[in-house]
Amino acid sequence: MQEIYKNSKYTIWLYNISAREYMIINKYLPTEHFDVVDIGNDSSRFNELKDFHILQKPDIVICDIDSLIDNKIINILYESHCSLAKVSTKKQQVNLDNTFELTNEKVEEVKKGKQITTTKTEKSMKQIIDMCQLSNIMKLQILTNLGAKNIYKSMDIEADLNSGKSVNYISKKYLFKLAQTLNDFISLKDNYTRGHCERVANYAEALGHALGMNEEELENLILAANLHDIGKIALPDAVITKTDKLNDLEFNLMKKHVELGATLLPANQLGYLKDAVRAHHEKYDGSGYPDGLKGEQIPLLAQILAIADSFDAMTSQRSYNRVKSAEEAFEDLKRHTKPYGDGDGLGVFYNPKLVDKFIDVISNSKTTMDNLREAKRQADLNINYKKEQDGQKQKRDKQLVKGDANNG
Ligand SMILES: [Fe+2]
Ligand SMILES: [Fe+2]
Repeated sequence: MQEIYKNSKYTIWLYNISAREYMIINKYLPTEHFDVVDIGNDSSRFNELKDFHILQKPDIVICDIDSLIDNKIINILYESHCSLAKVSTKKQQVNLDNTFELTNEKVEEVKKGKQITTTKTEKSMKQIIDMCQLSNIMKLQILTNLGAKNIYKSMDIEADLNSGKSVNYISKKYLFKLAQTLNDFISLKDNYTRGHCERVANYAEALGHALGMNEEELENLILAANLHDIGKIALPDAVITKTDKLNDLEFNLMKKHVELGATLLPANQLGYLKDAVRAHHEKYDGSGYPDGLKGEQIPLLAQILAIADSFDAMTSQRSYNRVKSAEEAFEDLKRHTKPYGDGDGLGVFYNPKLVDKFIDVISNSKTTMDNLREAKRQADLNINYKKEQDGQKQKRDKQLVKGDANNG
């Protein structure tokens, strides 16, 4: 498996942090993945920095309790949707002084809104960073405002923490629930998306399995598949519900869903999900978007999603387009593993080795092939029915015009 953080770079602001704490934080947050900005203890710099573009705003801010008591700073942090701001606005404050070890009980107290104090040991600093990462996911609450808060409540995160579950485990559980909620919401507007994400997850899982991924890698892949189109939630309804071909402006907006989706995802050790969502429309020859990544620059999860995504788009019904059979879709994928002009090549969109594996695994799954045949049969019936209806309507319209002419 390739390096998971590959294309992520997250921003962490340190406010009023000592040199020793700075060293510890840097140890846990490797600089190739995180921009650690030490802003000293000058609160006016927050104002200066907060006007930056949203992507440059901090994903996490680490500061001491005295800084959090300053309301001005709390508001600025809150506006930036960053981690500690969420914690502080709920009066859940972590004080980095030399009094206590940060235990699970203490974490529980923080979650309940109590102020606590903790030591500056490496372990407690690590736990604070974990907590920041966990609450960072909650920025989705502010950005989407879709009942994510209730999901958070219903998950009983405190119970999970107390029973020793890792932040990684809790974050994934939360994201799964969130993906379901967001996909439900998008599918209220666009019926295709919900079923689409489930099918993409199934295809991706089958390919991941064939590639020998372990259980955790498969879990990540399925989660990424469920999240891959969540950025659509931020697009105008007119664009996501349009069944005709999108014009240039609409298409450019639609393309934004990858960046928007990535922006919604947390910048923590699950950063590979952010990368996969951002890169799922990259193409193997570098002609994709948003970053024009090429070949193995594209995270493996995104390479897999791209194949599963296109295969589903070709074989399932969206509006009244003609649905391709599995065999026709395999053929199309194959043609997109060869450069344009090379025989029947249409440009190298996908990793050729992955396409071969994908075709092999899907064509050998009787259940999947049966489902695909049935979906195509249904889609063809729908198209014929629609044609028939359109024909009858045209006939009626003609008769009406004729009647009007005779009456006139
Ligand atoms: Fe997409
Ligand atoms: Fe998609």
